[in-house]
Amino acid sequence: MTRPIDPLIDRVLIDEAQLDARVTAMAAQISAHYQAQGNLVLVGILKGSFIFMADLARRLTIPHRIEFMALSSYGDLSTSSGEVRMMLDLRRPVAGEHVLLVEDIVDTGLTLQYLIENFRARHALSVANCVLLSKPERRKVQVQVDYLGFEIPDVWVVGYGLDYAERFRTLPYIGVLSPSVYLNS
Ligand code: PRP
Repeated sequence: MTRPIDPLIDRVLIDEAQLDARVTAMAAQISAHYQAQGNLVLVGILKGSFIFMADLARRLTIPHRIEFMALSSYGDLSTSSGEVRMMLDLRRPVAGEHVLLVEDIVDTGLTLQYLIENFRARHALSVANCVLLSKPERRKVQVQVDYLGFEIPDVWVVGYGLDYAERFRTLPYIGVLSPSVYLNS
């Protein structure tokens, strides 16, 4: 197991080798599914998905293009405001393409629900999602996750793209944040 380097991380929940193996397996599954379909576009949801997106996309063995969308629901707070806001839309439309939404985490499900609704109007051939982490205990709305990396308990996780108040995104593992960080802020 990788040792946590940052003293503000209580423990490593998912280490680099586990992330690598799971992302590789997800990419193989996605490649197999979309191989015969063509016209695949990955839509990474910023900011949290940027590292997962980069690793997943590089492991796909089928042609695809990349888009990004930025949403925000948390700001710098540790609890969701419940309101999803679009900060940046797609650069090119996705009509006539198969869309795969790429998310770092599903917590309440409000963001994914918003995305699924939002993409209904965009005339994509299909819309599916690929999510690295899911906290089922936190769900407020039921959403279908099509490709899931890991189910995790209700702990504050950072690293591999996920932040706490914009910190810790570039840790190479998924770590559990020490409660001292958010209890003292
Ligand atoms: C996080 C995460 C998801 C969303 C999930 O984004 O990246 O998009 O929250 O939470 P939900 O299921 O409760 O809606 P955040 O708003 O923290 O922005 P970030 O990705 O830029 O860090």
